[in-house]
Amino acid sequence: MRVMKCLMVSLVLSGGAAAAFAGYTPDFDGGVGAGLAIQAAIESAASAGGLVPEVPGWAEPGQRVWVSIEKGAAAALGRELLRGAPLAQNERIAIYELDPAALGALAAGMHRSLRKAPGFFAHDTLESALEDLKTPPAPQARAYTVDQGPRVARTLALIKEEPIISAIVSLSSYRNRYYRAVTGADSSRWLQREWGRFAAGRPDISVAPFKHSSFPQESVILTMRGTTQPERVIVIGGHLDSIAGGGDNPAPGADDNASGVAVIGEVIRALVEGGYKPSKTIKFMAFAAEEAGLRGSGEVAAAFKKDGVAVDGMLNLDMVNYKGSEKDIYFVSDNTSADQNAFLGRLIDTYLGYTWGSLKCGYGCSDHASWTRNGYPASLPFESTFTEYNPFIHKAADTLAQTGGRAEQALKFARLAAVYAVELAK
Ligand code: BES
Ligand code: ZN
Repeated sequence: MRVMKCLMVSLVLSGGAAAAFAGYTPDFDGGVGAGLAIQAAIESAASAGGLVPEVPGWAEPGQRVWVSIEKGAAAALGRELLRGAPLAQNERIAIYELDPAALGALAAGMHRSLRKAPGFFAHDTLESALEDLKTPPAPQARAYTVDQGPRVARTLALIKEEPIISAIVSLSSYRNRYYRAVTGADSSRWLQREWGRFAAGRPDISVAPFKHSSFPQESVILTMRGTTQPERVIVIGGHLDSIAGGGDNPAPGADDNASGVAVIGEVIRALVEGGYKPSKTIKFMAFAAEEAGLRGSGEVAAAFKKDGVAVDGMLNLDMVNYKGSEKDIYFVSDNTSADQNAFLGRLIDTYLGYTWGSLKCGYGCSDHASWTRNGYPASLPFESTFTEYNPFIHKAADTLAQTGGRAEQALKFARLAAVYAVELAK
């Protein structure tokens, strides 16, 4: 883990026309970054070069890579890595076109000499990429209230650890859930069937894939239609894909992020068992291709914004089953909604009694950033501090055995997500 101050590298991997963009990071100060995006960047470029076993019919045409980089960092890197004049720039960011093969050297150079981790948003189209140059709309101020005591108690009594364990076992038994791999696509279809069972006998519940045009793994959306305000939407999501260097490498991703998807399933299961029918619509989502630059959630959130969907809140569950730190839950404070984070803290204090704190990613480290940049209030409650998170993620060793086959930490997040659903979708 390396201390990072203020850098953003944005990579655009596009199948066709030249593209350039700058990512949105509203809050840079003093963040501590994972450095994982470098690995994802290299891997993503490698996949662009065709090194990954392709799902039949999903081979992408030759790709080019455009890097947008903060000018100070570009200057520090020097001419060897970034040749020639930038293709485009604004006062803060310059954009270079690179051969994907040079990306590894760029990432390594940045890591070595600058000790900073990039975050990036990858886009299918130039049009989509250019949206990132704009300042995202500030979410509307919302009045959060906490007054559903009896219903919360009934729901919490139904949340269990065992189904979470079982879902983590199922998801992590895929060799990987890599967004371009056959097993990644299969795991999405398995989840669609699994969540589909919750729709039985409930005409107000439906499960549908959200298909992506550039990769085979589908995002999954379970919709619980609201009774009185169905047009207002609460999103509870987390990423389905896993990665360990890319390609067909074993990547069980038990904590990153079978744990988040398993927690979402348990919240659905408990709400259904309790016969709960929300006033507002709740959409439970498992996002494809987070590890490839927030691609799945980026497309879903952009589609919601384009369609004018009124999302009252988004809760991202990513890495929730490893207790690495003193407190139970840590809220990521950058690229999230301060108001909604405060609301979640209040929910914990009122109903759950867990200890909680906050931390910074320093970059758009997961799918909440896709919702934030589309103007929706989003939060990421996380398993630990940023120096103490699960050391096995993005490795073949990210298994449930690392947490003794248990899901005690994840259970806290399932309870929090259930309370959030009940208090926000009322
Ligand atoms: N679950 C991680 C994000 C994470 C890792 C948060 C460690 C906090 C601590 C996520 O799946 C991930 O790996 N994100 C990438 C960024 C993304 C844009 C490719 C990362 O952090 O490098
Ligand atoms: Zn990850």
